[in-house]
Amino acid sequence: MEKMWAGRTDGNTDKSADEFNSSIGTDSRMYRQDVAGSIAHAAMLAKQGIIRQDEADLITDGLVSILDDVAAGRLEIDPEAEDIHMFIEQKLTERIGQVGKKLHTARSRNDQVALDARLYLRDECAEIIRLLAGLAEALTGKAEEYKDAIMPGYTHLQRAQPVTFGHHLMSYVMMLLRDIDRVSDASARMNISPIGSCALAGTTYATDRAFEAEKLGFDGVCLNSIDGVSDRDFCVELAACAAIIMMHLSRLSEELVLWSSWEFGFVELSDSFTTGSSIMPQKKNPDMAELVRGKTGRVYGDLVTLLTLLKGLPLAYNKDMQEDKESIFDACDTVKACLGITRGMIGSMKARTDRMRKAAGEGFINATDLADYLVGKGMPFRDAYKISGRIVGECIARGFTLETFPLQSYAEFSPLFEQDVYEAINLDECVKRRASYGGTSPESVERQIAFARGRTETAVG
Ligand code: ARG
Repeated sequence: MEKMWAGRTDGNTDKSADEFNSSIGTDSRMYRQDVAGSIAHAAMLAKQGIIRQDEADLITDGLVSILDDVAAGRLEIDPEAEDIHMFIEQKLTERIGQVGKKLHTARSRNDQVALDARLYLRDECAEIIRLLAGLAEALTGKAEEYKDAIMPGYTHLQRAQPVTFGHHLMSYVMMLLRDIDRVSDASARMNISPIGSCALAGTTYATDRAFEAEKLGFDGVCLNSIDGVSDRDFCVELAACAAIIMMHLSRLSEELVLWSSWEFGFVELSDSFTTGSSIMPQKKNPDMAELVRGKTGRVYGDLVTLLTLLKGLPLAYNKDMQEDKESIFDACDTVKACLGITRGMIGSMKARTDRMRKAAGEGFINATDLADYLVGKGMPFRDAYKISGRIVGECIARGFTLETFPLQSYAEFSPLFEQDVYEAINLDECVKRRASYGGTSPESVERQIAFARGRTETAVG
């Protein structure tokens, strides 16, 4: 078939060059956006008197029939076509004849591909936000269920202070809420129309870019045509959002892997989201969590690919930019799959609150509370810290916990110790008393839950 761009060259490219040049395998998924963009373009051309209204109608009908046929599987996208833009234009001309060739007036594939990508990724943003909100809701539900469940909080993976499982889970919800904000921001910034930038310099035709942009639901029109066709910030920004989301999911996954180990035994993942071993009958493996952790690497890779792809490019369009879609689509696909699977894992997971509680009772995680007790009786914190540390050392040497350490022994360290020390180091009390704003007390967790629910509701509006 003769190339649509044959003219300056005879278009008789080598088969290997055709294959190498083709992006249809990647960009065919933008067929809806390509058709929508072309319909808006035809309407604009007619309104401006650049083509006749009956021509625009014919073009629109042809495009709609192509869209319907592709969607219904009646029209197969030719894997040998150069790209989705060429394929649709070619089909259009086959179906409606010469008038089809008028569609590509006052535009170029350079602004066309930038338009399609923005339209496509705008929808991806909405879907990612929906999935983020879904996971945040699942985590919030579990946090509510376990808002009183005491577990050791860690720093350096050493038992540090008592927290509730609810509080710990809500920390992830806060991350996801920021992710929602980030994706919304990226979405708003990308929602500016590049169409009408044409090849790079704009056009001599009396186009109405604002009309076309409005038809496509954009918030505005890019002001510089060179920027319009060169800018792929919107891909980089979304990939960066995806990388941050994956970083969050990966940290959560790592904790799920740790928590579901025999050593921790803090959670039981459901059978629906774990696998067995082909050889060891006792195994229940957290494969989904591990895969989410593993896939984080490829999304980081997508981001670095995009940044590297763009860093040395002179303005305006360069064919290198065709490579952007594979990366940003992979980042979106991966992040969506991971958000969905993580939601399933969290929603069906059970906490083993007895095991958490037991672990919380073993690591002297109430030592800060012991120091605070002495501070409450008038001792400066630095002195109280030292004495408490010595008491912990003594307990370890003599096989006590702070709860079982006798009052006479406490008294040897300071005359300030009285019977009420045992209440001060009681784990439930330690948690309840951390009622500072954002702390681990159940009422603080309830405040977080209410906040998160409000935010996720508006996010999916
Ligand atoms: N398939 C191309 C891409 O994705 C479309 C734009 C082609 N433009 C050009 N001047 N060859 O980038």
